Amino acid sequence: MSAQKKKLLLIGSNGMLAQQIASIMPAKYTPTAVDLPEFDLTDRAQVLSVVYALQPEIIINCAAYTKVDGCEAEPELAIRVNGAAVGYLAEAAKKVDAVLVHISTDYVFDGEKKTPYVEEDQTNPQSVYGHSKLLGEQAILSSGLRKYFIVRTSWLYGPGGNNFVETVLRLAAERQELRIVDDQVGTPTYTGDLADAIFNLVDADPSHHPSPYGLYHFANAGQCSWYDFAIEIISRYKARGGQVKAARVKPIKTIDYPLPAKRPAYSVFDKEKYLAATGANLPDWQKGLDRYLNLRDVLKL
Ligand SMILES: NC(=O)c1ccc[n+]([C@@H]2O[C@H](COP(=O)([O-])OP(=O)(O)OC[C@H]3O[C@@H](n4cnc5c(N)ncnc54)[C@H](OP(=O)(O)O)[C@@H]3O)[C@@H](O)[C@H]2O)c1
Repeated sequence: MSAQKKKLLLIGSNGMLAQQIASIMPAKYTPTAVDLPEFDLTDRAQVLSVVYALQPEIIINCAAYTKVDGCEAEPELAIRVNGAAVGYLAEAAKKVDAVLVHISTDYVFDGEKKTPYVEEDQTNPQSVYGHSKLLGEQAILSSGLRKYFIVRTSWLYGPGGNNFVETVLRLAAERQELRIVDDQVGTPTYTGDLADAIFNLVDADPSHHPSPYGLYHFANAGQCSWYDFAIEIISRYKARGGQVKAARVKPIKTIDYPLPAKRPAYSVFDKEKYLAATGANLPDWQKGLDRYLNLRDVLKL
């Protein structure tokens, strides 16, 4: 007899990461996908009633206000969506005994460290976005929910989203020269690899870790600056026959490209906790980029 399928509630389902999670979801899950405008995470009554009605075993929250500079202009909205609303989900998950998977960010750190950030490192967000995402983490911790995974990740890109790879390829098709910052260092993360990592955690073999719940850092392996990333995007794109106009990528400094929200200068993660809990492999960021470029070819993006 086949095992009973598990009900999974996927929140923010039209977003970049959620689309990838939906596309690789193991067959043992039966997903229900919700997003704006029908489902609003900031509506506590709606969150509670949807969760009670479905009684999911797992809730994956990909919904967020993710426009980092937009958060500076709309701090109240950012804090409502990324902070308080996450508390409603934790409350609902606790009531129905569901596992809550919530995605957070490297922007909870100030970027002053020079070695990879571990989960226990002191947070010190420098932007409204980072602050609001930290409030979301804290809402889960203070809810008393035991069965949660908070997965911090960085520099996400994948199909179905406005992301750095698409921006670079668009600009490289339009301009002779690209100017990209080289004094912010982190790790690009392919949504396909993060989606795999989420299921690796949720389905972790208890022999690796008897109680796997908690806070995790996940990104692809390795590190680079945005400038290095842009160079790699263009060279790998050209190597597969892609045409670009840009003859040159010029490294610039953050100070020469002012944006409303301050970004961490360094936000590389230590991933040892994830690796120990899952026993999984960690693809390097160049491999993640290749997987994405392959998928773009298949999807003819
Ligand atoms: N993108 C990155 O580089 C990055 C890096 C680190 C961490 N993260 C985190 O990773 C997660 C997924 O990011 P992503 O880039 O996939 O996000 P995304 O593409 O912006 O998707 C977020 C989704 O949430 C929806 N949403 C916004 N407010 C909502 C609300 N009140 N109720 C219900 N749904 C709502 C959005 O709808 P609308 O589009 O209609 O607003 C959108 O469909 C987020 O938690 C983000 O903070 C992202």
